[in-house]
Amino acid sequence: MNKRKILVTSALPYANGSIHLGHLVEYIQTDIWVRFQKMRGHTVYYVCADDTHGTPIMLRAEKEGISPEMLIARVHDEHLGDFIGFHIQFDNYYSTHSLETRRFSEEIYGKLKTAGLIAVRGIEQLYDPVKNMFLPDRFVKGECPKCSAKDQYGDSCEACGAAYAPTDLKNPYSAVSGAKPVKKSSEHYFFSLSDVRCADFLRCWTSEADHLQIEAANKMREWLGEAGENKLSDWDISRDAPYFGFEIPDAPGKYFYVWLDAPIGYMGSFQNLCVREHIDFDEFWRQGSDAELYHFIGKDILYFHALFWPAMLENAGYRTPTKIFAHGFLTVNGEKMSKSRGTFITAESYLKQGLNPEWLRYYYAAKLNGTLEDIDLNLEDFVARVNSDLVGKFINIASRCAGFISKRFDGKLVDGRQYQLLQAMVNERFATWRPDQIEKAFEDREFSAAIRHIMKFADEANEMIHELAPWEIAKNPDRNDELQRVCSLGIQLFYLLSRYLKPILPETVQQIEGFLNCEPLAWPQLNAGQPVADLLLPAGHAIHAYQHLMTRIDAKQIDALIAANTHSLAPAAHHDSPARHAEKQQHAVMPIADTISIDDFSKIDLRIAKIINAEHVPGAEKLLKLTLDIGNEQRTVFAGIKSAYDPEQLKGRLTVMVANLAPRQMKFGLSEGMVLAAGGGNPGELFILSPDDGAQPGMRVK
Ligand code: 2FM
Ligand code: ZN
Repeated sequence: MNKRKILVTSALPYANGSIHLGHLVEYIQTDIWVRFQKMRGHTVYYVCADDTHGTPIMLRAEKEGISPEMLIARVHDEHLGDFIGFHIQFDNYYSTHSLETRRFSEEIYGKLKTAGLIAVRGIEQLYDPVKNMFLPDRFVKGECPKCSAKDQYGDSCEACGAAYAPTDLKNPYSAVSGAKPVKKSSEHYFFSLSDVRCADFLRCWTSEADHLQIEAANKMREWLGEAGENKLSDWDISRDAPYFGFEIPDAPGKYFYVWLDAPIGYMGSFQNLCVREHIDFDEFWRQGSDAELYHFIGKDILYFHALFWPAMLENAGYRTPTKIFAHGFLTVNGEKMSKSRGTFITAESYLKQGLNPEWLRYYYAAKLNGTLEDIDLNLEDFVARVNSDLVGKFINIASRCAGFISKRFDGKLVDGRQYQLLQAMVNERFATWRPDQIEKAFEDREFSAAIRHIMKFADEANEMIHELAPWEIAKNPDRNDELQRVCSLGIQLFYLLSRYLKPILPETVQQIEGFLNCEPLAWPQLNAGQPVADLLLPAGHAIHAYQHLMTRIDAKQIDALIAANTHSLAPAAHHDSPARHAEKQQHAVMPIADTISIDDFSKIDLRIAKIINAEHVPGAEKLLKLTLDIGNEQRTVFAGIKSAYDPEQLKGRLTVMVANLAPRQMKFGLSEGMVLAAGGGNPGELFILSPDDGAQPGMRVK
């Protein structure tokens, strides 16, 4: 085998916030890929660090009354604890606030300067005269210059989507002190990306050698423009004091912008590992290195990784990345994570509720592919999928067969003639099985495809055991050999499956290695034409007694998780008298959900619907079955409005429905949309919407 040298990174999380389930998509994706490559015997290093610099971190520390160094040390420990909790196995988890990262930042900057790629220009920015600091765009607020929405950030309006400069805001104020900002100019340092050397290099780099996924390469082409059309602007890499970061050499009071030293933090973290483990840093980073370098990132930070970063490396005399692997965002139940809905779930809270991190690893893997598409954590599906695949299909194989092996055969699997029979059964049943496709799917980060293959194998294995029915054979003492063979077969198939699931379920598979009494499982190497049975445990192998390997998820655990993450602005009611409580309830207004863009909103297709029939649903406590006319088609919707409406009242009424909601299979039938209603806090307090006179079924509501 050709042994590869691979260096892998995940994006560095900011040191002022908690790790949440959105972050974990990336760390889990990367960790699975790294574990897979390590299992195959390649030399792989996986490094990461906290991204510690910048104004938000400086201000957060100030607010907490501690130094930025104290803040980042604390958060580092928290982040690392979360990562360990989810079995993210970094070879080094470091900090950008390190000597190594400072040294590389200075060196790279120096080389860019020598190459004539650093320019100094004065720019005018908003300045907080009370706090005596320049204000990053996000720290200036005011009225949108286009639609006059209040309290908008300095870079874009969340009400109308307009993008602008902070100096365009009407009635601006500093989000730090509330003061009215003044315009002030100062000198800034720029990386000359508009220089023809950078533009030419990037045009080549982004279009050759699969450095980028297709969608990413297309985006880059858009940003770069055609040859000769230089669309890139120089990149402002300096910030004025006060700033938490590295001071620029020979430029007192000027600091490297956090995004300059963040990717350099990949090098810093790796260098720190190299010293500790005697690895040759240059072998991985020198120009022309034959080692591979992969950055896993979210699609929102492509610009930094696919343009600025390779241009910096190239011009500073280092190798450039082999590939940038960008992934999409996480939605929960089809929506952006939200604190008010309890779906902004932190890694820590997930672990604290006692949920198994491998459930989430498995679910994410089952959803992930090699594209930039967003992935959805549908909590109902999460419970169903984990319970059915992991517990029902995978673990079940072992739990059905192991007991007989321990009790009746002293833990020993078959040998001799029986082993040969077993091998023949496996080879025959799995003759067309393609483990090479699983391997390719892992390599291509098509984890969902890998899981489809693996689960197909698990289905086959279960069917085989079901057909052979060891529990029936066990009733007849004359069929002992057969019982041992069939149960050994189950254990062998379980062993085989465990290898393929190991990158995803490292802890469970470690327990399985104990139970099966075998060496740590490596990636199965099967040459073309070699029979599957070559991958089995040896004849006569002895296993230990089966111990419980994984529990099912109880949907109540998910409810508790959501409750633990729900941040409501409503005051706690338990100290109030019943009367006061009722009064508050009446006036309680739910906090406004997270802001969405106009694009998000326009995804929802709302239609005027005529209720042509409404009826009770036998056995349903809360539901009415509605038949809705939306112009050119009719829909059936089960609506939870029984407590407030008599079906007869509803017939003939117009209302508003979500027409493009994915149909949902309910106990009583398929619901093909949703009608909109207000209230719902108390029984009977429900109000479906009605349009003004003149609206017609099928009209779009915007
Ligand atoms: O977007 C972020 O969360 C950044 N902290 C990622 C930095 S990745 C790398 F460049 F360091
Ligand atoms: Zn606006």
